Amino acid sequence: MALSPVACLGLAGGGACVPRRLRPAPRLLAYRCERQDGDMRAILVEQFGVRPTVADVPDLNAADHGVTLRVQATGLCRSDWHGWQGHDAGIRLPYVPGHEIAGTIAAVGRKVHGWSAGDRVTAPFVLACGTCAQCRDGNQQVCLNQEQPGFTYWGSFAEYVAIPRAQANLVRLPDGLSFDGAASLGCRFATAYRAVRQVGRASAGEWVAILGCGGVGLSALMIAAACDARVIAIDISPDALALAAAYGAAHTLAPAPGIAQSIRDITGGGAHLSIDAIGSAEVVQLALRSLRPRGRHVQVGLLPAEVSLDLTVLIAGELQWLGSHGMPAHDYRQMLELVNSGAVRPDELVTRVIGLDDVPDALAAMNTASTPGVTVIRPWA
Ligand SMILES: NC(=O)c1ccc[n+]([C@@H]2O[C@H](COP(=O)([O-])OP(=O)(O)OC[C@H]3O[C@@H](n4cnc5c(N)ncnc54)[C@H](O)[C@@H]3O)[C@@H](O)[C@H]2O)c1
Ligand SMILES: [Zn+2]
Ligand SMILES: [Zn+2]
Repeated sequence: MALSPVACLGLAGGGACVPRRLRPAPRLLAYRCERQDGDMRAILVEQFGVRPTVADVPDLNAADHGVTLRVQATGLCRSDWHGWQGHDAGIRLPYVPGHEIAGTIAAVGRKVHGWSAGDRVTAPFVLACGTCAQCRDGNQQVCLNQEQPGFTYWGSFAEYVAIPRAQANLVRLPDGLSFDGAASLGCRFATAYRAVRQVGRASAGEWVAILGCGGVGLSALMIAAACDARVIAIDISPDALALAAAYGAAHTLAPAPGIAQSIRDITGGGAHLSIDAIGSAEVVQLALRSLRPRGRHVQVGLLPAEVSLDLTVLIAGELQWLGSHGMPAHDYRQMLELVNSGAVRPDELVTRVIGLDDVPDALAAMNTASTPGVTVIRPWA
């Protein structure tokens, strides 16, 4: 890469986790190739699907309404892979991925109150505006003017990241929770919490089929088990299933012909709740066939644009088909109470800690498989 500082101007924009109609306008950012005072290291994607580089990009100034975070740990979510693959037409190249953040406040914008340098924080990946109709109704996870680090602007695979609209989105971390353990609270653990408890309404004694036991699925499993629900965990990876068993799955199954019947047999007629924590057309069909009448399905995994669904099955069984997208900052308190109680342990889901230099390989490896558990990046390691 031999671009001059001026020639390196780029646009960042998009939103892999954002429904298309909700995408905000892109914002102008810049990067340069020769390190200068005030630069920071970051992962830079210049072409979709092409190995990114570790580059020097300009350090950040906190916006009036925002803060700058020193990124202490940032999770590698499959949504980062989707973005890198170009599955969201809205991301503008070049860009810095990363949306699952735990860090310390490095700088505070002049209109931000109640937050100070050094505070340990996270924020939901959907950074809500706090003022639109959805925000006013408490549904910041579907804010009409949302921003997302790593999608609509440059993200957290970097030494620092900006968090705009800090007042509406910052969440203070409990002292006892490590940064590595807290990173997934920015996306997958919180998303799983909302999917299981608020959207899926899992309750004690119910059967929950969790399809996919990666970061989202294992988080969902831990949370469902804490509700005293009975979990059937499904994954193609024996290592992922071993983790699922360790975190409380009552049954673990590998996909095979007849698996829907196996789920119906184990559950005495079908699961009450299914959660797609993969994002696959086949898995959606499996979920449909695994539910009991009046069962609920929660779609978390990002799907290809066209997935067909036999709606007659939905109607005949009075099934409920529900989407789930992140979690608003104001709901973090109840999730953190559960974390503080020890009933759920997001830090135990972390199976691998890597540095920025390892990210290109780690992203490329996601083309063919998932590393069991949660991978966390420490940009300063
Ligand atoms: N809706 C949201 O707000 C939201 C938030 C976070 C992540 N996501 C999406 O959720 C999905 C899961 O993310 P993740 O980071 O946990 O992914 P991951 O790669 O860590 O885990 C996926 C798991 O699915 C398994 N798997 C893959 N294909 C399978 C198949 N055909 N049958 C059974 N198991 C299979 C893998 O072995 C892996 O264990 C992704 O699509 C991600 O983009 C959505
Ligand atoms: Zn809003
Ligand atoms: Zn994510």
